[in-house]
Amino acid sequence: MATRDLIQKFGNVSVILGGQWGDEGKGKLIDIMAEQYDIVARATGGANAGHTVYVPDPVNENGKKKFIFHLMPSGVLYPNVIGVIGNGVVLHIPTLFEEIEFLKTSGVDISGRLFISDRAHLLFEYHKIVDGIQEERKGKNMVGTTRRGIGPAYAEKIGRTGIRVHELLDFERFENKLRQNVANLAKAYDFEFDAQQEIDYYRKMLPEIKPLITDTSYYLNKAIKDGKKVLIEGANGTLLDVDHGTFPFVTSSNASIGGAIAGSGVAPNKITAIIGIMKAYCTRVGAGPFPTEQDNEIGEKIRQTGGEFGSTTGRPRRCGWFDAVASKYSAQLNGMTSINLTKLDILDNLDVIKIGVAYEYNGKTLQSFPADAEVLENLEVKYIEMPGWKQDISGARKIADLPENARKYVQKIEELLECPVDFVGVGVSRDQMAEK
Ligand code: GDP
Ligand code: IMO
Ligand code: MG
Repeated sequence: MATRDLIQKFGNVSVILGGQWGDEGKGKLIDIMAEQYDIVARATGGANAGHTVYVPDPVNENGKKKFIFHLMPSGVLYPNVIGVIGNGVVLHIPTLFEEIEFLKTSGVDISGRLFISDRAHLLFEYHKIVDGIQEERKGKNMVGTTRRGIGPAYAEKIGRTGIRVHELLDFERFENKLRQNVANLAKAYDFEFDAQQEIDYYRKMLPEIKPLITDTSYYLNKAIKDGKKVLIEGANGTLLDVDHGTFPFVTSSNASIGGAIAGSGVAPNKITAIIGIMKAYCTRVGAGPFPTEQDNEIGEKIRQTGGEFGSTTGRPRRCGWFDAVASKYSAQLNGMTSINLTKLDILDNLDVIKIGVAYEYNGKTLQSFPADAEVLENLEVKYIEMPGWKQDISGARKIADLPENARKYVQKIEELLECPVDFVGVGVSRDQMAEK
């Protein structure tokens, strides 16, 4: 649990973003920070996200309980925190209600403290079908999506045929539009889908959805004006951003700072801190370039020690060394004011730890992060080597208390990224965070 005054340090409106390819440990810091904030707002992505939070639970065998949030903002375990699902999210209502139900059975009542944007786009079952068909059609060029329908839902948004949450309030219009969209996609992708089942589900759920529908941009801006403290929860990761990531092996939204602003409707000049979450090594799920990947014994050791298996799909995550070129690109692009380096404890037993510090392609050092996925696949990474610390750091609560070699590793990352590291993760629990 955070020991210091986070508001004094970061201000009233903090954004938390993934700095790499997702799964950096955003959920854990959001949960920690939410204790001192009033509102946590998701801004982008959908149920492709899986944000893990562990809370103390004396009844449980190992003393803690695990929550994985896909759509629900990760700060809602504190009973006075309000959750907001912003306009930038593609919202699969059945997943949201499953999460609400799971929280209820775990003793967490969120009634009266969840709002969903009237402008968020609805993600339907047929978007998942189309996601699957698109992947199969790509064959060996498959993106390796989560098959949660994300790409097709955003495609309907950008194509201006998508259905927004407020349209549920005029059910006849909603019904007609849904039938039309299903007919169009079923024809284009050659599948069968019973639109009536979907319509019946929404008709049944309407009384539960209606009270949640809010102009969340107005709500958030007013709350900020009234002095409330707001956390904006990013999803996915900057290197999966549709504009700035390793296109086409990306998600279909802006996972970087631009998406946090557009997807929450909070004005950029209200933001007081941009905190980047960076794993102390790198991981990636799905296909696409990964310059520092270690498809070898080291990668396997990191995967097993770090439990690197997807929170959403259970797929094994690809593992590799910390990539300072990609991470610096991400820190600059987002204007990160602070970094939480996570899972440093996973490197406890290594003799030598490498950091990728430069990219070379065709014998030349690249000056910036390349646009072309093929260049990223074929470039050569230059590494520096740092000595390991070979001891258990899970008890450290101050960065200054880390063993010397671990401190040096953290300092090297600060230096390479030109951004302060204010938090270092040393375990899964709320209290396992070493602070500056
Ligand atoms: P997110 O999507 O960014 O929220 O990250 P995920 O929840 O998908 O994956 C991060 C995983 O690492 C989760 O299982 C977390 O419980 C775990 N984790 C986060 N921080 C730390 C840390 O500092 N040390 C260890 N050992 N695990 C951590
Ligand atoms: P969190 O928020 C890790 C990856 C998928 C795939 C690509 C596109 O938990 O960090 P999509 O289903 O979005 O069309 O898949 O993006 N991806 C993630 N990887 N963490 C995530 O979210 C991800 N969200 C999407 O694996 O490679
Ligand atoms: Mg995740």
